[in-house]
Amino acid sequence: MKLTIVGKDGTRKELKSIPAEFVVGREAPAQIVLPSSVISRSHAVFQVKDGHVWVTDTSSNGVFIEKKRLEKNKQTPVPLGKPVIIGEYAMVFEPAQVAQKQSAVIEAEKPVKKEKPLTTADFSEEQLDALSGIRDQIHKRLLETLDLRWVDFTAKRDQELNELVSKRLDMILSQMSAAIPKWVDRKLLKKEMQDEVVGLGPLEDFLRDEDVSEIMVISKDQIYVEQKGKIVESKKRFSSNPALMAIIERIVAPIGKRIDESSPLVDARLKDGSRVNAIIPPLALKGPCLTIRKFGTKRLGIDDMIGFGTLSKAMAKFLEVCVKGKKNIIISGGTGSGKTTLLNVIASFIQPDDRIITIEDAAELRLPQRHVVTLESKPANVEGKGAITIRDLVKNALRMRPDRIIVGECRGGEALDMLQAMNTGHAGSMTTGHANSPEDILRRLETMVLMSGMDLPIRAIRDQIGSAIGIIVQQSRLSDGSRKIMKISEVLGLDDEYNILLEDVFTFEQKGVDAKGKVVGKHMATGYLPSFLADFKARGIEVPEDLFKV
Ligand SMILES: Nc1ncnc2c1ncn2[C@@H]1O[C@H](COP(=O)(O)OP(=O)(O)OP(=O)(O)O)[C@@H](O)[C@H]1O
Ligand SMILES: [Mg+2]
Repeated sequence: MKLTIVGKDGTRKELKSIPAEFVVGREAPAQIVLPSSVISRSHAVFQVKDGHVWVTDTSSNGVFIEKKRLEKNKQTPVPLGKPVIIGEYAMVFEPAQVAQKQSAVIEAEKPVKKEKPLTTADFSEEQLDALSGIRDQIHKRLLETLDLRWVDFTAKRDQELNELVSKRLDMILSQMSAAIPKWVDRKLLKKEMQDEVVGLGPLEDFLRDEDVSEIMVISKDQIYVEQKGKIVESKKRFSSNPALMAIIERIVAPIGKRIDESSPLVDARLKDGSRVNAIIPPLALKGPCLTIRKFGTKRLGIDDMIGFGTLSKAMAKFLEVCVKGKKNIIISGGTGSGKTTLLNVIASFIQPDDRIITIEDAAELRLPQRHVVTLESKPANVEGKGAITIRDLVKNALRMRPDRIIVGECRGGEALDMLQAMNTGHAGSMTTGHANSPEDILRRLETMVLMSGMDLPIRAIRDQIGSAIGIIVQQSRLSDGSRKIMKISEVLGLDDEYNILLEDVFTFEQKGVDAKGKVVGKHMATGYLPSFLADFKARGIEVPEDLFKV
């Protein structure tokens, strides 16, 4: 007699010979163990004699044949070829040519939970290392049998390619079967390898996971992600450095960029708009390094930011009138503090009849207005020529009759051109910069202007800064992962000693952290009334005075 046991999840076990009498249950001493909480310890007793099978139900949840529950504790004949249902398992008896004695405990494979994508999370370091080695071997064998260089990855998820890779992987996995430890889920291993060869590998799951906002690969087996504002190390890994390299190339090639030893760093974008930066050896010492800032599926608006506690309603209104009143604004903050997001939000306050030109290294801004010219800088070509910098683009933008220029981020000499633009009829321009306080961003701007190569005296530089910048918004990422505007300050110009004068309009007062580590505090007006209120009033821009009430 032959017995086949099939689990609902697709696990399958075939027994060519079975004992004359045996118990099926959740755990030993049952001879056939079906691991499931709905199965009794001793669920049913089977008897086999002369090509006939009988079953006696001894369980609490029952035994079913052809959708009928059997009478408990009564020996019932089992029709051959028809499934006997016990919990999530079906047992089918069929006549076999040769029957042998078998008395050992037979354990069916544990059901595999399909909806759990990150099973690697349960593995130990040694297991992860072993898995890494196996994946490396599979990858190598795959490349031996399949030349992936000709594949056009722009037509990603190409059905034909997927099928081809799937077949090859099946073949390799069966050849390597003995070398793959039992604890490795083969289906998952195949899916991961497939993702790596035709998709973006371990990144695929992170890109799908809405809780992940940033993906940081610092070497093939060290991947960090920012999840709900917190940075955590993931246990996912790439098979090898070439596999990771191939994925980086797959990202940059379709948008006409290039990465190799002679140009080892690149800014790029995924199709969904996520920003990508890749840097490889010899610049990155541990191996190819990849940083992806995911483009949120939901575009954040000012109301979301108020909801998150990033700023108060009064501050939001104030920023809105500053944008409408054409104040030049610089958003200052640390890495990942939300500068670009805030720039996007406040730029959406710009009147629809203004002509806007945006300039970025990797186009991240998504403005709702229709009349927007979007420019993106370009790195040098293979011969090291043809680079178009942010600075080139700012200069060019001035010849494009802009009303407002928005530069994604000022890092160098472009600051001078930006300040000049702000001072010469392009009021209402905006940019961001990397600094830790409003005073700090002013100092950085000085340094950036010096980087332009123009030999300007420091007074002249400060003069430019003091008269160009109207408002500084300082944003931070706090210890609990939240983003907050810490200060909104007005730039008042220079004093007699050529110091730039600043006055805070709003601040965030942190009182501490609660039991869960969440930052507790309050956004407040300082009581200072901005110097331009009268001017705004004269131009018909309404500024409710209670915004500034302490
Ligand atoms: N106010 C906010 N509240 C919560 N999350 C935010 C907020 N603003 C931005 N984020 C999230 O923080 C991450 C970083 O945002 P953003 O790209 O705007 O930062 P950045 O300061 O421009 O970073 P970088 O210096 O790298 O350019 C994104 O994932 C974004 O969704
Ligand atoms: Mg940014």
